[in-house]
Amino acid sequence: MARITLRQLLDHAAEYGYGVPAFNINNMEQGLAILEAADAADAPVIIQASRGARSYANDIVLKHLIDALAEMYPHIPICMHQDHGNNEATCATAIQYGFTSVMMDGSLKADAKTPADYDYNVRVTRNVVDMAHWVGASVEGELGVLGSLETGMGEKEDGHGFEGKLGHDQLLTDPDQAVEFVKATEVDALAIAMGTSHGAYKFTRKPDGDVLAMNVIEEIHRRLPNTHLVMHGSSSVPQELQDIINQYGGQMPQTWGVPVEEIQRGIKHGVRKINIDTDNRMAMTGAIRKVFAENPGEFDPRKYLKPAMEAMRAVCKQRFEEFGTAGYASKIRPLPMSAMAKRYASGELAPKIGLTRQAAE
Ligand code: G3H
Ligand code: 13P
Ligand code: ZN
Repeated sequence: MARITLRQLLDHAAEYGYGVPAFNINNMEQGLAILEAADAADAPVIIQASRGARSYANDIVLKHLIDALAEMYPHIPICMHQDHGNNEATCATAIQYGFTSVMMDGSLKADAKTPADYDYNVRVTRNVVDMAHWVGASVEGELGVLGSLETGMGEKEDGHGFEGKLGHDQLLTDPDQAVEFVKATEVDALAIAMGTSHGAYKFTRKPDGDVLAMNVIEEIHRRLPNTHLVMHGSSSVPQELQDIINQYGGQMPQTWGVPVEEIQRGIKHGVRKINIDTDNRMAMTGAIRKVFAENPGEFDPRKYLKPAMEAMRAVCKQRFEEFGTAGYASKIRPLPMSAMAKRYASGELAPKIGLTRQAAE
């Protein structure tokens, strides 16, 4: 079984200069599509489940689904990650069900709607880090609140996001505070806010530096060269997927996502985990709409889920290639969580602040 922790995987990615897409999962079809793509690209992969996914699929089903995927593809390192954990209990139960990594999103309170203050964020994140590291699991934290710099709004379509409007002070991670946060929490990876938001409606035009503040990533990477950075809301919302959906009866208003070249720029500046859900949702929806439009009499789910899986597999494979993940699965030897727990206990994985990457190695 090739389960890997986020920390081990991202340390490898940093060493070789690549990024790893983190694809959201809710069902068997998505799991098979992700692993077929990883297998074709020889890529390690991060699969992540939101709280919504865990309650949709059921924790037990999800656990056995991931076991099945790991058994089918023993040569592919799979990191199983909790996306946007809202409190300590969500993170603890994820680990109980076989997740090797959790996100404690303390940028929002436990209701996943109310922006939290810095001290609250540090406290809950530190609690999760202590608990997770005892058993060798990894922790992603978030500093700054995800939302649009154009509108000041979060994206509520996924049930996780603030309500109302926020100013740029909350929507952009403060680089100095990022250093303090990593020092205080000892997170393995840090999600930062720089203008991306969840869902399809990120930007009303092709984004430039005013609405997608890649300079914040560069600034944080300069101060924290050894911290793995995470980009949320990083679907590219490809025009061709919007067109397929609309061609076959969908009604998606024109929108723009995060261009792949901006993500590639991020990867050069410490971004190691790139969260993608919307692109895969759109790929599946477009394929299903096409089957229904062309054959309204169809009622065998396999007839539309198979094309949906193929469309999703193509998106995943393309991202593995674009982020440089392809070719690395066979080069990693995953360590068990017990070995990672020993490494944390020895202090060897504590954050190295103020050192260049070379000096830290
Ligand atoms: O966090 C964002 C992901 O797109 C998951 O969305 O909460 O609807 O499963 P979800
Ligand atoms: P997208 O909605 O851009 O795919 O982002 C997903 C995400 O960030 C999950 O945490
Ligand atoms: Zn997210």
